[in-house]
Amino acid sequence: MLRVFSPSKLNLFLKVLGKREDGYHELASLFQATTLGDFLECTLSDTDNLTCSDLSLPVNENNLILKAAQLYRKKTGIKIGLKVHLDKKIPIQAGLGGGSSNAATTLWAFNQLLGQPVTEQELQKWSAEIGSDIPFFFSQGTAYCTGRGENVNCLPPLKTQKCWIVKPHFGLSTPEIFKKLQANPYSVLENPFSFNPNGDLNKTSFYFNDLEKPAFEIQPTLLDIKNELLESGFETVMMTGSGSAFFCFGQGKIKRSDLLAFEAQFLNRPLNTWY
Ligand code: C5P
Repeated sequence: MLRVFSPSKLNLFLKVLGKREDGYHELASLFQATTLGDFLECTLSDTDNLTCSDLSLPVNENNLILKAAQLYRKKTGIKIGLKVHLDKKIPIQAGLGGGSSNAATTLWAFNQLLGQPVTEQELQKWSAEIGSDIPFFFSQGTAYCTGRGENVNCLPPLKTQKCWIVKPHFGLSTPEIFKKLQANPYSVLENPFSFNPNGDLNKTSFYFNDLEKPAFEIQPTLLDIKNELLESGFETVMMTGSGSAFFCFGQGKIKRSDLLAFEAQFLNRPLNTWY
């Protein structure tokens, strides 16, 4: 049995550059893994089997863990099953990449249990077939991602930051948020686009998310929550991904009792080990 950590991610900035012919959106985003995460207990088995500590989470073939196990077999031709128990901590429908991280972690663990027949680069390339955010998790935890999100440009670790991750009781659906996005005009990147992550981390203007506007249109309470968190003293409060979670930097107070709150830190991994 292999017990592996499956971290969440934040989008420190997320710009939507346009709509593509395949229906997806062209993105430019700085992704960062965090210490808020799940654990997966993986064992080779005759057939696939998934159980979860959170009984409300569907464990059918639509779960990305089972999709990842199937993808691994399809690509390698190896005919063996994977039994996974998921200890769920990352809230779902939060923009924290929980499902994507679980899928990446499954691919890594499956490969590990079989003696690493394929490289992490291969796993990363394959993973884009089942979700745009999955390849990021094969970086070392900090990456500038473009395309649908699947083009991963690895960056050195950022200065360690502590943050609060705050989520209202409701979640948001990624396809719905992208559907609602009326980006007119879309964000533009100056040419050539460059940023200095550690230098820019202190500027509140560095943190950005084009998906906040459609999310706030669908759930106006989100704007109230953001404003209350800012008023309580946090320096930066920004939605991650397609929401509904926010990350907060600085010294503030989380006063509302209807919010889930997690203290977390940026997380990076050494080469050739998982998080
Ligand atoms: O790739 P993934 O399955 O995570 O995407 C979920 C949905 O989010 C897509 O079906 C699409 O509606 C939307 N999406 C998008 N542009 C992206 C990523 C996701 O429009 N770059």
